[in-house]
Amino acid sequence: MKEITTLWWDDTLAGIRFIDQTLLPTQYVIAECTTVDRLITAIKRLEIRGAPALGVAGGYGVALAAITCTGASSDAFVRAVRHEAGRIRESRPTAVNLSWGVDRVLARFLAATDSAKTAALAEARAIAIEDPRCCHAIGNYGAALLSDQCTVLTHCNAGALACSSWGTALGVIRSAVEAGKQVKVIACETRPLFQGARLTAWELARDGIDVTVITDSTAAHIMRTGKIDAVIVGADRITGDAVFNKIGTYMHAVCASHHDIPFYVAAPLSTFDATRTEQEVPLEERGREELAVMGNRTLIPDGVPVKNFAFDATPMELISAIITERGVVRPPFNISALLSRTASNNEP
Ligand code: MRU
Repeated sequence: MKEITTLWWDDTLAGIRFIDQTLLPTQYVIAECTTVDRLITAIKRLEIRGAPALGVAGGYGVALAAITCTGASSDAFVRAVRHEAGRIRESRPTAVNLSWGVDRVLARFLAATDSAKTAALAEARAIAIEDPRCCHAIGNYGAALLSDQCTVLTHCNAGALACSSWGTALGVIRSAVEAGKQVKVIACETRPLFQGARLTAWELARDGIDVTVITDSTAAHIMRTGKIDAVIVGADRITGDAVFNKIGTYMHAVCASHHDIPFYVAAPLSTFDATRTEQEVPLEERGREELAVMGNRTLIPDGVPVKNFAFDATPMELISAIITERGVVRPPFNISALLSRTASNNEP
């Protein structure tokens, strides 16, 4: 497999370098970011996207704030960093990894007794180092669920580009292929921003993994005609009662359930939110232009309103298993027990 590193800290730059995901698959451009404002723009525009990658970006963002903020007193400095952390946290509301990364690094910054800037950067780096380890563990646990020859449907991009490398749902596929399994992937294009067509297809094809792109509305047809053995998706937030992921995921889960196809969610523990229920999670709605304009064509008549939800919620009863770095959980999903499970008592 060809290594992809989605974003990283560059000491010489004193900032973040990242693959600009809005330009793929036609241009592979490494962009840079040395201010919190630029980072927020990159997150809002989905130059950096995908829940675990947002966790890493959030962590580095607080480190960036610690380096760039000034204050007339140490209290003013801390207030300024807190303020910037809040702005980063709010830049996308649904993927809980973003606030998790921000809060983890902010806590380390606030607790530091001497060099708070160094402490913040060290914590952000720790998140970036842990992420691929989680993905590989998820990959190994998930690969065991796939048969030696199978066709898997996925939605959006839960790959290396959505993490710092390897991926969650695509990490399962990569690990299965690495273990010698013959996995074919059906990638839903994922309207309106085409993360499936542009990003999932790009990274799998680059690794020589068999991938075919379909329109989102083709999924039910191929599930019905028996061509799909499993559906695997990532997640942006997992509450006790639902899995939040890219809009369209719920539709695939309903179809998979109707056709007796296992529906797997692959996500690190940083994506779990034991504090909220589905109803309490903010669902990101994005701009009209993402639906109404394609290139230089207008697709929707002026004045006609649109609804552009970025995510939906899939109730737990439609999910066959959740694959985490600490093992596979099956219904009834006991999220609190999972979160207290230690690395030494994993139950694959
Ligand atoms: O809007 P995006 O592209 O950030 O949405 C990403 C997804 O929905 C992914 O499936 C999710 O973050 C899981 S990433 C491992």
